[in-house]
Amino acid sequence: MLDTTNRPDLPPEISRRRTFAIISHPDAGKTTLTEKFLLYGGAIQMAGQVRAKGEARRTRSDFMQMEKDRGISVSASAMSFDFNNFRFNLVDTPGHSDFSEDTYRTLTAVDAAVMVIDGAKGVESQTQKLFEVCRLRDLPILTFCNKMDRDSRDTFDIIDEIQENLAIDVTPASWPIGMGRDFLGCYDMLNDRLELMDRADRNVVAESVKIDGLEDPRLDVLIPAELLEQLREEVEMAKELLPRLDPQAVLEGHMTPIWFGSAINSFGVKELMDGIGSYGPEPQVQSAQPREIAPEENKVSGFVFKVQANMDPKHRDRVAFVRMASGHFKRGMKLTHVRTKKPMAISNPVLFLASDRELAEEAWAGDIIGIPNHGQLRIGDTLTEGEALRVTGIPSFAPELLQGIRAGDPLKAKHLEKALMQFAEEGAAKVFKPMIGSGFIVGVVGQLQFEVLASRIEMEYGLPVRFEQSQFTSARWVNGERQAVEKFAETNKQHISYDHDGDVVYLTRLQWDIDRVERDFPDVKLTATKEMM
Ligand code: G4P
Repeated sequence: MLDTTNRPDLPPEISRRRTFAIISHPDAGKTTLTEKFLLYGGAIQMAGQVRAKGEARRTRSDFMQMEKDRGISVSASAMSFDFNNFRFNLVDTPGHSDFSEDTYRTLTAVDAAVMVIDGAKGVESQTQKLFEVCRLRDLPILTFCNKMDRDSRDTFDIIDEIQENLAIDVTPASWPIGMGRDFLGCYDMLNDRLELMDRADRNVVAESVKIDGLEDPRLDVLIPAELLEQLREEVEMAKELLPRLDPQAVLEGHMTPIWFGSAINSFGVKELMDGIGSYGPEPQVQSAQPREIAPEENKVSGFVFKVQANMDPKHRDRVAFVRMASGHFKRGMKLTHVRTKKPMAISNPVLFLASDRELAEEAWAGDIIGIPNHGQLRIGDTLTEGEALRVTGIPSFAPELLQGIRAGDPLKAKHLEKALMQFAEEGAAKVFKPMIGSGFIVGVVGQLQFEVLASRIEMEYGLPVRFEQSQFTSARWVNGERQAVEKFAETNKQHISYDHDGDVVYLTRLQWDIDRVERDFPDVKLTATKEMM
């Protein structure tokens, strides 16, 4: 039986939780791997259901159709399932680079990340970007090198590339035997086992053989001589040249263990899951003001890291995804919504079991629950049992692209405002209302987000919209004493707008302007990020 905890002092229900995300470049195999996790987690009966379910969902809206056409996943969700003694909470990250802000926030809700790379392609651009985000938070990272059933790169090359490009120590947890057509399976370096792949049935692993070191005579029967010789040589070299697994270094984010496998053949997946249990962290301490929150505290607390609107177009609901930071939550509990100081009875929270949404009767620190609401809950909000704690570190980034937006039908301007406010609260775009004049300016991080926005406004609100070129290209939040900010706004009216929280934003097209403000208005500070609160 696996050891379920690195911290025996935690309540067992908390120490068995592993909350993580998968980061990868599109096409590396994230969906396939997720599906196999769910299969082994008993959450689905048959591989293929995640995709099949996706298809069914997609037929419901053009927005999803767009997701399908582009082959990208723009909406994130959470899934819970059990494996061995562990409760895994997998938080899905949108893979496309245009959605990096959403991804960043998602990564504030997890304790570890699984990095999937394609054995033929190595570290790709999107993997690198997401890795950098994980590094900012020193998240522990476990690596899965996928598609070993295809021709892939030399094992040492792959490891070298990760070490060099990502500046992290890599330690092999398994070692592949052969590759492509000759790929037989892996030598499990941590447990001295041979794992053989079954090519006939993609949902089973052929054989797991406990051996007694690489000199075990049984190997001569199981592996062709040439491959066996190569395996012995390579493993010996690996042991000499590569660092040994150091669980502490993994937890600190300085070392990543790598497993080799083939998600589509279900190969290497269980070993990876064992690894997440053994070397991935239990729920961590959460940074907050005025004090940190420890997962084992008796009192319940949690924070909103994502809001998804209209998950079910028929109900026009919004679901706030809440990461539980401490305590043992039970359905029906009254929590305090710290931003408004109002009590909220959480009577119908949902747990995202992979099979479907289900009412959550209880949740522990580390879990993700969904709270349906009518807009009270915003990204960055903290819920507690009364204490005025505010979780920190969930940023909002200044958009990099700005455009004016108008309703196709001018009489629908009010409707448009409502739609835009909702998307702003959901975090799908920044919305600015200029101090002078009418209309709105929307800001996004990537071009594709404009299209998603237009498509969703049309689908969900029946409002065709038009984008117009904006005279501005940059946005900065204006910080400072209230009087100073107001005075600044009065003297720079043409540049001023308000975001959906009513905060003052300075819009411009010139870096020169930003420099000038810094020089001429020492009482205010322009920033490219704002902490959500
Ligand atoms: P993503 O979510 O990271 O974008 O990747 P996804 O799982 O959708 O996988 C991308 C493609 O790679 C899929 O093929 C999938 O079947 C294939 N794939 C995943 N794991 C493996 C593996 O271990 N070995 C091999 N050979 N292929 C793998 P596709 O043709 O795009 O889709 P499909 O028609 O197979 O569904």
